[in-house]
Amino acid sequence: MAFALNAEQNQKLEQILSRYPNKMAACIPVLHLCQEANASWVSDDVIEFVAKRLDLPTAHVKGVVTFYTLFNQKPVGKHQVWVCRTLSCALRGSDKILEHCEKRLGCHVGETSKDGKVTLRTAECLASCGSAPMMQVDKTYYENLTVEQVDRILDTLVR
Ligand code: FES
Repeated sequence: MAFALNAEQNQKLEQILSRYPNKMAACIPVLHLCQEANASWVSDDVIEFVAKRLDLPTAHVKGVVTFYTLFNQKPVGKHQVWVCRTLSCALRGSDKILEHCEKRLGCHVGETSKDGKVTLRTAECLASCGSAPMMQVDKTYYENLTVEQVDRILDTLVR
């Protein structure tokens, strides 16, 4: 089935376009809008939709999607957990946090838990080094993590 936005989402798209000097410049925010409208991933249908709406070649839009890790190229879980693994977090135990997430969710980095609720990822520095180790769950930061805190956070996601 071809991808389409509803009336409210179309209005948001028009608002985005009004903030940019040309359609190409709006490609990333429009892709974010469409990803959110498509269960958090960018399918080929979404790419075609964005290319058509922005008068861009499909290859250009696909290039943007494949360049940025924040665009999901396959279906993902209801929630996305990003464990930072860069220096400050690594020095303060991000490997243990990640290992614990894998054990709790029963999946490896890049995979989704069997119940479809959580996709586990690693991230490079998320600019919260002073409160390492940390992870991002959807749009929320969780900082100064311990394994016990991670358990409580994951409990809220898999209910
Ligand atoms: S190293 Fe993890 S937030 Fe910067």
